[in-house]
Amino acid sequence: MDHLVSPSLLAADFGNLARDVSLVNESQADWIHLDIMDGVFVPNISFGFPVIEHVKKIARKPLDVHLMIVDPDRYLSRFRDAGADILTVQYEACIHLQRTVSEIHSLGMKAGVAVNPHTPVLLLKNTLPFIDMVLIMTVNPGFGGQSFIMESYNKITELRKMIEEGGYKVLIEVDGGIDTTNSGKLIETGVNVLVAGHSVFSSENPMETIKRLKDLK
Ligand code: DX5
Ligand code: ZN
Repeated sequence: MDHLVSPSLLAADFGNLARDVSLVNESQADWIHLDIMDGVFVPNISFGFPVIEHVKKIARKPLDVHLMIVDPDRYLSRFRDAGADILTVQYEACIHLQRTVSEIHSLGMKAGVAVNPHTPVLLLKNTLPFIDMVLIMTVNPGFGGQSFIMESYNKITELRKMIEEGGYKVLIEVDGGIDTTNSGKLIETGVNVLVAGHSVFSSENPMETIKRLKDLK
């Protein structure tokens, strides 16, 4: 399959959020990535339900919602009601992960699991049959604009092998420090979905940057 691009609104201009969502609507992006931070799981707080609801009203692409919050089970239905299409929880925040992803599915959303840079992908071996996507964090979560961690390539290779060997239909998404200089190698290594915040919204021409991430030219 062709790879997907999911621009992260964390790097958008929140004073002109509708304008930036429209830009993504008009672009070649496939999804819209929304980062939810609670100030506990990560040392930062982003935004919550009213912002997601607002984005949902104007978005013409699926909402790819990435929860960096403790105990996400408390809020799964709220994120569905706010407009999430794909809901990703952090592996490290879930005690009963299989139950959590089953609940996400029963609420009618696609289920993703994110792993921090220190978490081996092997820990997802028995979860792959139950999920639609693994998000490999390629920076430590919490902030946009950080540098890509090179060790991530080994994790992607290892996870791609596990997925192929098991015959699973699981997408690999990468998030953190993704730009037009590393996107090509990431796709070659087996990535299906590129999240990009700063490299898109801080660029001179975000529309063109999305096109370049999509075309890899
Ligand atoms: C980081 C978030 C990312 C962030 C990526 O904790 O999960 O989605 O927006 O930002 P960039 O692309 O700027 O590294
Ligand atoms: Zn994210």
